[in-house]
Amino acid sequence: MSKKGKSAIEGGNHAALWHGRFKEGPDAAAVEFETSIYEDMRLAEDDIKGSRAHVHMLGKQGIIPESESEAIAEELAKIAEEIRSGALQIDTSAEDIHSFVEGVLTDRLGDTGRKVHTGRSRNDQIALDERLYLRHAVPELQENVKTLIKTLITIAEEHTGTLVSGYTHMQRAQPVTLAQHLCAWSWMLKRDYERLSDAVKRIGLSPLGAGALAGSGLPLNREMVAEELGFDGPTQNSLDSVADRDYCIELAADFSILMMHLSRFCEEVVLWSTEEFKFINLSEKWSTGSSIMPQKKNPDFAELIRGKTGRVYGSLVALLTIMKGLPLTYNRDLQEDRKNLFEAYDTTSACVMIFTQMIATASWNEDRMNASCFGGHANATDLADYLVKKGMPFRTAHGVSARAVRYAIENGINLEDVPLEEYRKLSELICDDVYACLPPKACVDARKTTGGPAEVRVREQIAALKAFCAE
Ligand code: ARG
Repeated sequence: MSKKGKSAIEGGNHAALWHGRFKEGPDAAAVEFETSIYEDMRLAEDDIKGSRAHVHMLGKQGIIPESESEAIAEELAKIAEEIRSGALQIDTSAEDIHSFVEGVLTDRLGDTGRKVHTGRSRNDQIALDERLYLRHAVPELQENVKTLIKTLITIAEEHTGTLVSGYTHMQRAQPVTLAQHLCAWSWMLKRDYERLSDAVKRIGLSPLGAGALAGSGLPLNREMVAEELGFDGPTQNSLDSVADRDYCIELAADFSILMMHLSRFCEEVVLWSTEEFKFINLSEKWSTGSSIMPQKKNPDFAELIRGKTGRVYGSLVALLTIMKGLPLTYNRDLQEDRKNLFEAYDTTSACVMIFTQMIATASWNEDRMNASCFGGHANATDLADYLVKKGMPFRTAHGVSARAVRYAIENGINLEDVPLEEYRKLSELICDDVYACLPPKACVDARKTTGGPAEVRVREQIAALKAFCAE
């Protein structure tokens, strides 16, 4: 409530910016329903930064006296500082952050304060605030993504020789290394980082000066404002400038893809920490227990990240749905963008940071991973490749190897242990040298194709990922 006991919108100390046209104040429930002040709080500093650039321009263009432009800019800087330090509390009965800041400014500067909104609408102002905010908030998230990639490649570097089965259809497929496996996740995260850079680039134009929808008859200099705020320039169409929320949707989509990657990784962490797999051992700091089963150590953080992915997807769908029926230009529906976008941003940021700590503090069970390369005949493809190198057509080699697998299964042994005379019954091309190419390590070493799991190739990947992180 405002100081005079009347709601701000009704005409208390900080009356709604539009109250003059109304005889009656809005219902208290209406005020509560329509406010965006809670979501707007985090925009306060950027809102003020935008207003400062705006009044600088108004002064330079002679739209308001330069002395007043300076006074407003100075007072705005003080307001920002006071909000930061907590000396000035944001009045939650204000309709939005723009109304609150203008109200304080007017309280303090009187008629001079009443000039801040010259040639501007809250429609271009909110679009500006969001863009300004995202241009620093998204890079903060990106830095955390890089930290995660660095964490993964640090682990990878220690495990270029740690063999582990690769899986398709969740069945043992071919041996790889833990390093190759962690690099795979790292490349996905690198793409996530790049998608975000791309989105931030597209947020690089300033909508201020588009006004409510139709620009301004005052001699505003939009380029000047854009430059002061570090944008590449002004947006190109006033209607589009206030109606556009593509950047929210695009970011929510980028967050969703990033969360999908984390969620898949978490699924693997959950699986790999089971007694059945036991490839990974999560630290006690990043595990929970059971209230009834004393022995339990549960991977709740991986599960929570997997679960929270659903909420981020929800934000994307909400944003798309909010936008799908909106005619040009500004419609109040747009105010619903922040709840969804900020929710998605906050959740994604938290998940990236938590995941990083969880994985950094985990230990890896090399023996169990190594054991996974045996017993599933994961070297059968390598046996076929051996025959191909001896001149046999691949399809024939596939058949020979398949029969060798059948023999091994029937006799309860591995391909490495099939006697040479049995191999020679299957193909005369098989000689003693077959045993050198069957151990999992030999299989991995042989796969030197670009991007393959051989140590030389994985070291190349690690170097490339490191170079990316150092950019
Ligand atoms: N609080 C509003 C929002 O977040 C600011 C713009 C209000 N514009 C209007 N025409 N009511 O979208």
